[in-house]
Amino acid sequence: MAEKYLQIRLKNRPGSGSDDFWTITNDKPCALEDHQILLKMHYISLDPGMKGWMSDKKSYMPPVNLTDVMRAFGVGEVIDSRSDQFKIGQFVTGFTGAQSHAVVDARGFLRPIDPDAAPLSHYMGGLGMTGFTGYFGMTDIGRPKTGETVVVSAAAGAVGSIACQVANLSGARVVGIAGGEKKCNLLIEEFGLDAAIDYKKGPIDEALKEACPDGIDVYFDNVGGDILDAALMQMNRLARIVLCGGVSQYDDWHKAVGPANYMQIVTQSLTMRGFTMMDYSAQIPEGSAQLAQWQREGKVKFLEHIVDGLENFPAAFDTLFNGGNTGKMIIRL
Ligand SMILES: NC(=O)c1ccc[n+]([C@@H]2O[C@H](COP(=O)([O-])OP(=O)(O)OC[C@H]3O[C@@H](n4cnc5c(N)ncnc54)[C@H](OP(=O)(O)O)[C@@H]3O)[C@@H](O)[C@H]2O)c1
Repeated sequence: MAEKYLQIRLKNRPGSGSDDFWTITNDKPCALEDHQILLKMHYISLDPGMKGWMSDKKSYMPPVNLTDVMRAFGVGEVIDSRSDQFKIGQFVTGFTGAQSHAVVDARGFLRPIDPDAAPLSHYMGGLGMTGFTGYFGMTDIGRPKTGETVVVSAAAGAVGSIACQVANLSGARVVGIAGGEKKCNLLIEEFGLDAAIDYKKGPIDEALKEACPDGIDVYFDNVGGDILDAALMQMNRLARIVLCGGVSQYDDWHKAVGPANYMQIVTQSLTMRGFTMMDYSAQIPEGSAQLAQWQREGKVKFLEHIVDGLENFPAAFDTLFNGGNTGKMIIRL
């Protein structure tokens, strides 16, 4: 059967009320230019933060242009090369775009990976961008200590699941917040957290107070909104808030609402620090080695939610905003 060349292209900006993406069947890519490589893609990462790349509001990266291939992390195999850095048969990960085949400049944000060291899908999750986000956000900004109380929101998701397991290894008391009983059971039974809160079950303020009788020392925020506001009210003096993301506010990037309880930052002398994983690009080898070691030792588990077929990209993307995924959402090609 003839090979299919598929691309996911950006159709509308978020909040327009219409479909966000087109799925396009493309021609075979043209001949390569110097420094370019051709990748046959094996996995594409789906991330809530793509809403920020789709929006035209100022961010840490330029917006994806309408009609362009959607920006995405991926894992691919080099099938043609005009680069000294990457040879045919090698595997790489980086910004490849949401497409079945990618022509990329080998001098861009790409790193070689060893397909024998770990399953390729892990380079999208635990040994990929979201794993490093959970790891560096927790170890460098949260810095939990034995005896402290750490709370992580979207704790059964890609970043949250790593952040809460890393916190658990520090000896802190760790509380995860997730949607639904199944995810909460997983946080306790699979990750060994001390408590889990189903934020869909009842008022989050009461549940947090009950689960954190000694207050909160580190709050790792993936969701913003009401949960951030509730956490602010339980923060101990000099506590840290790690601002990783705000998925509850991504429907329309232009209308994100900040916390009403922000005066707690003043009255409790809190530190609230945002970051992106790109801040830690130079430290990826260190984070990757540590997470791989913990995973081999059974101290950290990498959860993956794999969907087959690039044509399912739009539906799988929507799943991230209704809690349908557990662990890292990945498209397998
Ligand atoms: N700073 C960085 O460099 C960086 C890098 C990667 C990701 N992030 C951010 O980290 C966060 C998590 O990303 P991820 O890739 O790990 O995604 P994820 O957690 O695997 O998936 C998103 C999860 O968010 C939860 N959610 C969705 N809508 C929600 C809402 N309105 N209120 C509360 N929870 C909601 C859902 O879980 P439930 O079933 O529990 O509701 C859903 O499964 C996002 O905010 C993302 O933008 C930041």
